[in-house]
Amino acid sequence: MTEVASVLYGREDIRRRVEELGRAITGDYAGREPVLVSVLKGGTVFLADLMREIQLPLEIHFMAISRYGTAEESLGRVQILLDLDVDLTERDVLLVEDIVDTGLTLSYLLSVLRARGPASLEVCALLDKSVRRITPLPVRYAGFDCPDRFVVGYGLDVAERYRNLPDILAVEDARAVRDAPDLLASLLTAP
Ligand code: IMP
Ligand code: MG
Repeated sequence: MTEVASVLYGREDIRRRVEELGRAITGDYAGREPVLVSVLKGGTVFLADLMREIQLPLEIHFMAISRYGTAEESLGRVQILLDLDVDLTERDVLLVEDIVDTGLTLSYLLSVLRARGPASLEVCALLDKSVRRITPLPVRYAGFDCPDRFVVGYGLDVAERYRNLPDILAVEDARAVRDAPDLLASLLTAP
């Protein structure tokens, strides 16, 4: 039987890369107090690790959105289910995302946030599936340039499962796993 999923980025690779991103952000935002914005839920694991690698005063805030169908179907338009409770005027905003795929969702969110008058607005994404990009989108900080594979773990889910895997795995047959998320259940059992 072929493996259902294989490690694409292991926890040690992720740790090292997150450390580098944190160092870059610390340098670039020196003397400022960035507002890190995370979109629930995928980006939360990355945010939790990244914020501890940034040696600056900072704030974290969360948004929740719901999509109308896939990103392509909705052209990125989303409904904001939970909005920020912070005034972004003249703040340095860094949107922290797990993965940028078509970029449609994120470009819509950026337009929403830009309208609130921040001093700066940048994107930090752990994974950048740049080959899938439909809309041009500047990702200022990207962890890894991700191949066009379906990935799970480290916050990324399939049908809300497997966010707690410490590594990021590429799924061989994404459709089969979407239809039957239990296919990956063995990944959760202790050795
Ligand atoms: P897009 O950039 O608007 O196409 O959508 C990005 C969102 O799609 C991410 O925030 C994820 O929630 C989800 N997504 C895209 N690719 C993957 C993947 O490979 N695994 C899990 N979720 C994904
Ligand atoms: Mg997400």
